[in-house]
Amino acid sequence: MYILETQNLTHIYKGNINALNNISFVAPHNTRIAVIGPNGAGKSTLFKHFNGILKPTSGKVLVRRETITKKNLKEVRKIVGLVFQNPDDQIFSPTVEQDVAFGPVNLGLNEDVVRQRVHEALKTVGLLDYRTRVPHHLSGGEKKRVAIAGIIAMEPEVLVLDEPTAGLDPQGVREITHFIKKFSETCGMTVIFSTHHLSLTAELADYIYVMNKGEFVAEGTVEQVFTQADLLTSVRLEVPVLPKLISSLRDRGVDIEMGYTYEEAETSFLKAFGKS
Ligand SMILES: Nc1ncnc2c1ncn2[C@@H]1O[C@H](COP(=O)(O)OP(=O)(O)O)[C@@H](O)[C@H]1O
Ligand SMILES: [Mg+2]
Repeated sequence: MYILETQNLTHIYKGNINALNNISFVAPHNTRIAVIGPNGAGKSTLFKHFNGILKPTSGKVLVRRETITKKNLKEVRKIVGLVFQNPDDQIFSPTVEQDVAFGPVNLGLNEDVVRQRVHEALKTVGLLDYRTRVPHHLSGGEKKRVAIAGIIAMEPEVLVLDEPTAGLDPQGVREITHFIKKFSETCGMTVIFSTHHLSLTAELADYIYVMNKGEFVAEGTVEQVFTQADLLTSVRLEVPVLPKLISSLRDRGVDIEMGYTYEEAETSFLKAFGKS
C-alpha cells in the first residue's frame, strides 16, 4: 500500500503557468524518496500538494488511499509533515522551544507530551542547547534544523523536506544527511526530499524521481537513474564525481565495480587495487 500517491496531478498557476503536468507519484511505507530536478522544475509545487497546501487544477492526491479534501485536511497534516524550502516561511515564534512546540500544541497534545516531544525533536537535530535562543538570529543551517524539529515533533508518518540542504555548508549538509538517515531508520518514517545534491541522493534515496518542466523524465533506483548521465545533463544535473570517475575507468577497460556512495566507491577502489 502507498502511504502517499498522486494521480494525474496537474497544477496551473494564475497566468497560465503549467507547473505540474499529469504527475503520477507513489511513496510506499518506510522508504526514502528523492525528487531531483533543476530550479523551476516544479518540485516545491509538487510538495505543497502532498499535504494539501495547494489544490490540484486536475487530478488528485491520496494519503493512505484517501483523496485529500477540505474535510480531511487536518487529518492529512497529522500524517504528512512538510518542511518548506525557506525556513523563514515556517519559523515565527520568539524562542526555538516555542517554535518547535507550535505544531504539537496545535495537535491538542497535553503539556507534558508537548514538552517531551520538543525535547526529543531538539535532541534529534542537535539543538537542545538552543532552546531559549531567538530563531531569527540563528544561521541558515540552524534555522533549517529548527524547522525540521518543528515538524518531527508532530511525529508525522511522512516527512517531506523541500531542499533540506540548499544553502548549507558542507558540515551542514553532512548533519542533515545524518538526521534524515537517523529518523527514517529509527522511526520508520517515509521521507521524501528534493535536492540538487546528487551525492546526497546516492547516500539516502531508495527511489528517485527526476523532474523537469513539471513532468517526471525518469525514475528508478540510484543505479537506474545515475546510469543515465546524458539525461541528467540534459536537465542541468550531473552524476556525482565518484560514479562518473568509475564509469570512465570502466569505459577504458579497468576492472572495477560501480559505486555510487563514498563508501561503495572506496570499497570498489580497494578491490580494484587488490587491497581488500
Ligand atoms: N505562486 C506562484 N505563482 C505563479 N507561478 C509560480 C508560483 N510558484 C511557482 N511558480 C512557477 O511554477 C514553476 C515551478 O516552480 P517550483 O515548484 O517552485 O519549482 P522548483 O521547486 O523545482 O524550483 C516555475 O516556473 C515557477 O516560476
Ligand atoms: Mg523549490
